[in-house]
Amino acid sequence: MPYTSDESARCRRDFPALRSTAAGSELVFLDGPGGTQVPTAVIEAMTNFYQTCNVNTHGNFPPSREVDRRMEAARATLATFLGAAGPQCISFGHNMTTLNFALSGAIGRTLQAGDEVLITQLDHEANRGPWLRLAERGVVVREVKLNESGELDPQDMAAKVTHRTKVFAIGASSNALGTVNDLALARRLTHAVGALLVIDAVHYAPHFPVDVGALDTDFLLCSGYKFYGPHVGVLYAKPGALERLPTDRLSVQDPAAPYRIETGTLNHAAIDGLRAAVEYLAGWGVGATLRERLVDAMTNISGYEHQLARIYHDEVRRLAGVRVWGPDFSGRSRAPTVSITLTQHTPARAATALGARGICVWDGNFYAARAVEILGLAARGGLLRTGISMYSSASDIRRLIEGIAALG
Ligand SMILES: Cc1ncc(COP(=O)(O)O)c(C=O)c1O
Repeated sequence: MPYTSDESARCRRDFPALRSTAAGSELVFLDGPGGTQVPTAVIEAMTNFYQTCNVNTHGNFPPSREVDRRMEAARATLATFLGAAGPQCISFGHNMTTLNFALSGAIGRTLQAGDEVLITQLDHEANRGPWLRLAERGVVVREVKLNESGELDPQDMAAKVTHRTKVFAIGASSNALGTVNDLALARRLTHAVGALLVIDAVHYAPHFPVDVGALDTDFLLCSGYKFYGPHVGVLYAKPGALERLPTDRLSVQDPAAPYRIETGTLNHAAIDGLRAAVEYLAGWGVGATLRERLVDAMTNISGYEHQLARIYHDEVRRLAGVRVWGPDFSGRSRAPTVSITLTQHTPARAATALGARGICVWDGNFYAARAVEILGLAARGGLLRTGISMYSSASDIRRLIEGIAALG
């Protein structure tokens, strides 16, 4: 099924928050990389959960059996979303950061002093901080260099994956610059030395179909609130990978995957809502199976978002005093996230002025603090970031461009 401005206009009707107004005009949500709005289907799924089965799992009574059924359905749906072998590969948690701390802590217990973990200068702190903590155990943490173009240096990456490397933690896409990283290279390099590959797909999963089979990754993390769902972290683990890890868990807890890394009671209503979000996305695609519908939908939404982001990119860079950061739209795959700086205004001042016009865009470092530091932007307040989502429109972009032009 194609996904054009017509489908996007129809999709907007499914998101009640998009009808919100400020200062007499509709709010423009171009803040997707920080979190997307949710469609009615997600709100209804969560409401239904609270109305019909707000009890804990594994009880011998009907609503509890219903929760068990919904949790397994959610795991199966998220497995399909990520192209995983099955529900046993999908663990849930509070958010990506919490799951990554649990994962890095468990992997860290298997490492010796002098072992190396590789991270990148481009990544969000959620895929750096948990690994940097391992230095306390004598693990050496190295980082792949970020070029001024906003891309990771492939030579530096190749040089830093050595026989001492045990883990390479890399983002699939930058939430600050929209860069899509060369994951095939990361996998080739890690395979050659037997290192684990951990992919942060938080910024990638909302914009592209994910196929953990093709990526052949050991672990991949994403976060439901970035792709039209509620706040739920998702961890994919390759079959057998989680069982090898000494995770933090209670003695009473199920030691099998995917439960092995899940501590305490999960947010069942939100997990049910996340299943609804994935099914909502699939509703924009065609195909005989859920996976086919998802890949079709995500591929077409991706094309639509790319086109809109490209229009913004090409128009904003023509405005006086604007500098666009990160890769342009001529080359490889790129996420529809465009960050700029302005000669005359700090990002915070620009975002505040745009906010007063009802335009929601983020300023700062978005926790990609190392990238912003490397680009020399930390002292200047970072970047002004625009994120395109499935519900973004040409009129949103027009209002944004007008708002930036009016800053003077
Ligand atoms: C690329 C990236 N990784 C990780 C995270 C952290 O996700 P969470 O908020 O689920 O911990 C974010 C959140 O903005 C992100 O953009």
